[in-house]
Amino acid sequence: MKVTTIPTSPFDDQRPGTSGLRKKVKVFRTPHYLENFVQSIFDALEDCEGKTLVLGGDGRYYNREALQIILKMAAASGFGKVMVGRGGILSTPAASCVIRKYQTFGGIILSASHNPGGPDHDFGIKYNTANGGPAAEKITEAIYSRSREITQYRIVEAADVDLDRIGAQQLGAMQVEIIDPVSDYAELMQQLFDFDAMRELLTSGAFSMRYDAMNAVTGPYAHEILENRLGAPAGTVIRGTPLADFGGAHPDPNLVHAKELVATMNAADAPDFGAASDGDGDRNMILGRQFYVTPSDSLALLAANASHVPAYAGGLAGVARSMPTSQAIDRVAAAQQIECYETPTGWKFFGNLLDAGKITLCGEESFGTGSDHVREKDGLWAVLFWLNILAARRQSVAQIVHDHWQRYGRDVYTRHDYEGVSADGASALMEQLRTRTAELGEQTLGNYRVELADDFSYTDAVDHSVSSKQGIRILFSNGARIVYRLSGTGTEGATLRVYIEQPETDPDRLDQDPQQSLVELIQLSASIAEIEKFTGRTAPDVIT
Ligand code: G1P
Ligand code: ZN
Repeated sequence: MKVTTIPTSPFDDQRPGTSGLRKKVKVFRTPHYLENFVQSIFDALEDCEGKTLVLGGDGRYYNREALQIILKMAAASGFGKVMVGRGGILSTPAASCVIRKYQTFGGIILSASHNPGGPDHDFGIKYNTANGGPAAEKITEAIYSRSREITQYRIVEAADVDLDRIGAQQLGAMQVEIIDPVSDYAELMQQLFDFDAMRELLTSGAFSMRYDAMNAVTGPYAHEILENRLGAPAGTVIRGTPLADFGGAHPDPNLVHAKELVATMNAADAPDFGAASDGDGDRNMILGRQFYVTPSDSLALLAANASHVPAYAGGLAGVARSMPTSQAIDRVAAAQQIECYETPTGWKFFGNLLDAGKITLCGEESFGTGSDHVREKDGLWAVLFWLNILAARRQSVAQIVHDHWQRYGRDVYTRHDYEGVSADGASALMEQLRTRTAELGEQTLGNYRVELADDFSYTDAVDHSVSSKQGIRILFSNGARIVYRLSGTGTEGATLRVYIEQPETDPDRLDQDPQQSLVELIQLSASIAEIEKFTGRTAPDVIT
């Protein structure tokens, strides 16, 4: 088979963000753009000769075309084998599971996660290493520097691979194995959870659930696990077929984008349990009947109820949360006398802690929860964890959360996003906050006294690498916090995220609407950072 070497020149915008390289489809379709990045990945890796890769994506627009290009480039770079999910489908957690199970060299995941798909929307590519997790910063930086000096890439001239036929095919000297994207993952779930108890609950007639796959990648996984293996009635999984444009939906499981599910769960005859996952299957949203569980509470609750789940019944090694995630999990960790690590935003920071066995569960406020079973956050896993708890406790979602708040107190929490603001305005806002952190310390603002203001810096507990400038924190003496950071996953302008939190232990106030109980802090968050002055916005676009 002929290997062609194509001359190219660098693009200057290929630095991977919070989760790989994300751009508009149009940008990826610029001649050589995808190829440059893929070659930069291969060049940054040590020796690809004879190695095995896992490859798949969330099925979004451009997935199949990109897969064919990557396969031909992998063959030209000397890989021995690539395992591809049938139809080009692999959810992000399933890709992580396959990499680990077959001990491959690494994997490439094609996804822009929860961002919309289609010719005018987003695409993305991310490299995961042999542990199944997103490549560490050292590697993503090496890929980026390679992309700045690339002069050529290699590709074989060959017919397209048949992505829909299970089994082995040859691409020159490289083998392409098309695998069932669901079965390895489904087996892993069956090992972790009490499927018998969950099946009993789902077939008891006294319980119903709705799972919204948002026309994205988890549809086939949810059909197989919830309906086929656990016996939930057909119709439990809605929007269960992956579509290239997600049916025009924004596949982000939150109160704004999963509107239909939220309406179903708020109805008088709502199911007992509702859940959704995002474009590539790593996020989750949990709902009870007329009840919303914040991701931060969900993480804390999973940790507190881990004894109900066979895989975690032996106790947790430790837990971790990203810095802007609420401190609810810290209280559970303290009660269990285990360590709670605080990492920067992004799943990659959990990797070392998981690999070193320092933590079992971890999560982020952004609808991401996971454990040491893979090295990605895992949407369906979180849903099954909840289902396992519901099967064991036989109480409603609302009751379980209320019990939790009674015992540990509640961290009343909200996140305000200002989307698509000017990049210059947003960086100026962050810069002025950064220079003012010292002056903010120990000031009294309204009813709040600032205890500490800083720009979060993280030292990895395993390799001691330091990641600085991870978000401005303002910590108040009563345990409340305001956190500011800029999104690293957006593709248009900048997105400012403001995270606001306050602990509440007064039993009469536990049920209050966060937007009400946090009203003074919300006002402070806007005035301290002069959000209107720097962004021109008087209100956030999305509140979660
Ligand atoms: C967002 C979330 C972050 C998550 C990432 C990938 O990143 O905030 O927690 O890890 O998506 O799903 P951000 O856009 O804030 O950089
Ligand atoms: Zn995702």
